[in-house]
Amino acid sequence: MTKEIAVIPGDGIGPEVIREGLKVLRAAEDSVSGFSMETEEFPFGSDHYLETDELVPEEGLDRLSEKDAIYLGALGDPRVETGILEQGILLKLRFYFDQYVNLRPIKLYPNVSCPLADKGPEDIDFYVVRENTEDFYAALGGRAQEGRTEEILEITRSIYEAKFDLDIEVDGDELAYQIGLISRKGAERAIEFAFDLVERENRERLTSVDKANVLSDAYGLWREVFENVSEKYPDIETEFSFVDAITMWFVKNPEWYEVVVTPNMFGDIITDLGAMIQGGLGIAPGGNINPEGVSMFEPIHGSAPKHAGKNEADPLATILAGGMMLRELDEEEVADRIEQAVYEVLEEGNVRTYDLGGDSSTSEVGDAIAEKVREI
Ligand code: IPM
Ligand code: MN
Repeated sequence: MTKEIAVIPGDGIGPEVIREGLKVLRAAEDSVSGFSMETEEFPFGSDHYLETDELVPEEGLDRLSEKDAIYLGALGDPRVETGILEQGILLKLRFYFDQYVNLRPIKLYPNVSCPLADKGPEDIDFYVVRENTEDFYAALGGRAQEGRTEEILEITRSIYEAKFDLDIEVDGDELAYQIGLISRKGAERAIEFAFDLVERENRERLTSVDKANVLSDAYGLWREVFENVSEKYPDIETEFSFVDAITMWFVKNPEWYEVVVTPNMFGDIITDLGAMIQGGLGIAPGGNINPEGVSMFEPIHGSAPKHAGKNEADPLATILAGGMMLRELDEEEVADRIEQAVYEVLEEGNVRTYDLGGDSSTSEVGDAIAEKVREI
């Protein structure tokens, strides 16, 4: 059946890298029998916002709902106040479509230089499963100025007293707070996805990230849910890691990791570190997944305005995100071919963009991968 793909090129380098991603998907369409796709482009992003004042209208959400998946370039523009496009489009889509997992493979390809001494492709090959709808992203927060801070102070004081038996002094002139929300159901579904991924990928170990030693209410629940869910998977080895420690271990012993599951905010941070140990943001893809709904695939990098329009950005992250999208749509052969093509082109080492030490253009990399997809 023809796959219906919504394409949101977005801002900055988004349109250039998406163009190459689509080129590669078209090559797969020509060479894998039974696979076909139809694309429809949507204009959401900074230009559209500046012209119309619209982020993603209701009608746009309805049309996106009819698609099999969304292929997104990047969002963010220096002309727009920080947070507007990120929250109004990217987070809006993640939440609206309840894409509760953000799956980020951390894989070092051959011939890609890794900043860690003595580590190669055999050492860096794991997945981060980032819970994608809760935690500090749940938009629970507020600011209060003098005269309106009493209630927050009251709660803060009573918690300090109960926990530490201390009276605290907080200046009540101006306060801001942000609450991290973990729900049992929300944690459960992300953690179950991670255990299933361990099985599907024939891995052995699942590491759960938290900070239950300090933020013990929210991440205590996360930990409890992890323990409960793990009982359903007796053959999978499990462990906990505090988030500060895991940043250290990603650098020291990345080969230890197979699948890592993490609350949203820590996942955001540790996957940027993960991207660096796999050779940079230019090659790190991700998928915002709702296994029963419309999922959205994107490079994990941003819109990189200073590289926009120069045909120099690395399209590999977006190309790999396209492969992940087709895997989620059960087009295994297409997904395998795309990954294989990226692998081979990098291994040959002739075509690569500046970030990987080469001087090829965005479109030359796209051409080389597309050609390889046809050849395989
Ligand atoms: C990411 C990004 C987003 C996030 C921002 C742009 C909202 O950093 O996809 O990792 O924090 O999730
Ligand atoms: Mn991020």
